[in-house]
Amino acid sequence: MKILVINGPNLNMLGIREPGIYGKNTYEDLCRMIREKASELGVEVSLYQSNYEGDIVTRIQQALGQEDAIVINPAAYTHTSIAILDALKAVHLPAAEVHISDVNKREPFRQVSYAGMACEAHYIGLGFEGYLRAMEYLAEKYARSE
Ligand code: DQA
Repeated sequence: MKILVINGPNLNMLGIREPGIYGKNTYEDLCRMIREKASELGVEVSLYQSNYEGDIVTRIQQALGQEDAIVINPAAYTHTSIAILDALKAVHLPAAEVHISDVNKREPFRQVSYAGMACEAHYIGLGFEGYLRAMEYLAEKYARSE
C-alpha cells in the first residue's frame, strides 16, 4: 500500500510558527514520525508539502494510479479551496483530513472545510498524532479491502 501525505502552506514552518497553537516540533520531526508509522504499518509513504494551491491540486491528480490513499492537511486552503476539494473528488481515493489545532474552537473563518467534504475521516486538534491516526485508519481500510 502507498499513502500520500500532503501538507499545505506554512506547515513547513512548524516549530517556528505560533508554537502556542502548533507546538514546538518541526516539519522534519513530523516527517520522521510519519515515516516511522509507515514502517510500523508496513506501508510506503510519500510526503509532499507546498505553499501553492495549484501545486497541491497537481500532486493530488498525480496520486491517481500511484498511491492508494491520501492524508491531507490543506492548512489555510482548507477554508478556501474548492480546487483542492474538486481534485480530491476527481481522483476518488480514500482520504483523511488532519488539522493539528482544533479548528472548531478557533476563528469563524476556520469553521468551513472544503477539502473535508471529500474526506471520509477527520482528525482535528490531536496535534501530530492526527496524521498517525489517519494513516492507521487508511491502512486498516486498505487491508480489509484486500
Ligand atoms: C491548520 C489549521 C488551519 O486553519 C491553518 O490555516 C493552518 C493549520 C492545522 O493544522 O491546525 O495552517 O490546518
